[in-house]
Amino acid sequence: MSAATLFPQHVIARKRDGHALGRDEIAAFVRGATDGSWTDYQLSAMLMAIFLRGMNAAETAHYTDAMMHSGVVADLARVKQPKSDKHSTGGVGDKVSLHLAPMVAACGIAVPMISGRGLGHTGGTLDKLEAIPGFRVDLPLDRYAGQIGKIGLCLIGQTAELAPADKKLYALRDVTATVECIPLICGSILAKKLAEGIDTLVLDVKFGRGAFMKDKAGAKALARALVSVATAMGKPTRAVLTAMHEPLGCAVGNALEVAESIDCLRGRGPADTMAVTFALGEQMLLLAKVAKTKAAARQRLEAVVTSGAALEKFRAMIAAQGGDARVIDDPSRLPRAKFQVPLPAPRAGFVRDVDAMGVALAALRLGAGRARAEDKIDPAVGASGLVKIGERVEKSVPLCVIHANDEKALAEAKAMLTRAIVIGSAKRTPPKLVDEIIG
Ligand code: URA
Repeated sequence: MSAATLFPQHVIARKRDGHALGRDEIAAFVRGATDGSWTDYQLSAMLMAIFLRGMNAAETAHYTDAMMHSGVVADLARVKQPKSDKHSTGGVGDKVSLHLAPMVAACGIAVPMISGRGLGHTGGTLDKLEAIPGFRVDLPLDRYAGQIGKIGLCLIGQTAELAPADKKLYALRDVTATVECIPLICGSILAKKLAEGIDTLVLDVKFGRGAFMKDKAGAKALARALVSVATAMGKPTRAVLTAMHEPLGCAVGNALEVAESIDCLRGRGPADTMAVTFALGEQMLLLAKVAKTKAAARQRLEAVVTSGAALEKFRAMIAAQGGDARVIDDPSRLPRAKFQVPLPAPRAGFVRDVDAMGVALAALRLGAGRARAEDKIDPAVGASGLVKIGERVEKSVPLCVIHANDEKALAEAKAMLTRAIVIGSAKRTPPKLVDEIIG
């Protein structure tokens, strides 16, 4: 039966009753989301049936394929280098894409990266890039392809042409309690990533208090599903499982994270951020066959930082996308908040905890993120100089510096950060950060 002659209620009933759906039935559902031939209540019922009954590996692959082909798939055939991207499931202070993309591009891999905006407690790569005055993330696909051919990387936002079914279905999932479902997450993430025109993909699947997946077992199941579906679709993929209990690096907030990424490109990045960056970069170089061993990949990545080649790629990308590349040599050109207030340690001791979620909510209160999709963010605010778990601190030294544009928000964020950062007498070993490679 063709997708057009399948009635929505029959397809929904088959999934409701626990049957595995065929390619045509899944295609009918995704087409219904794209062309409006299924109503929102039919799409929502179907999403709930999938949430409750699940989808097997073949259904998930059909679903991902249909989602990806609901719109345009970028044609990067004219780009001769291997094309690889990295995607993170999102974390607090996760600015890795900003400096990893130029590092990998400087190693000879083209990086087509279509990213999202932040929603809820995690920041989005696009919001961070837009903290650079003038930087444009809304380039059309032909300019995106041209820039990748010319300088080896381009970071833009999702266009209306890419995976439009996901836009519709994600909005419905958000309001029908159907987000936390591995097959639906696979289809949503991979449809967008595979439409970018990549050859290979590396995923950073985070687990912990500050992550989308709270527990490691769930993150591992998601990582396995993502890797097996993408690989079955002809795109060799690996996932790196990383912990997200405390914020990544020492800065949370859009302009503050851009400044920290510039530090990473100058070889002065925080140890935890660089550990995750190298773990992901190594897998990108290995999968793209630009390096034969992990050690060789690491050496190349370190070399492009030391030589300044990665920093120059970042500069070229900012200039190509209309941004003020002078921020690289003079980060004071980034937006700055009116108040910059240190948060003093209440006592001497060891940092026992820096609760990623607590820090994220404080940043949200300051205006660094959005609680609703339509909220406007403040690029200047957040926290910098955050201490790390295990560090020794003396009484009154700053645990971080709060950047705020509003006195009431500053006072509330101060109280929130005071609760999030715990000082105790015994030293605590920081949790293992790079946990496992899947694939
Ligand atoms: N991110 C996405 O893009 N989609 C999901 O379903 C979950 C996280």
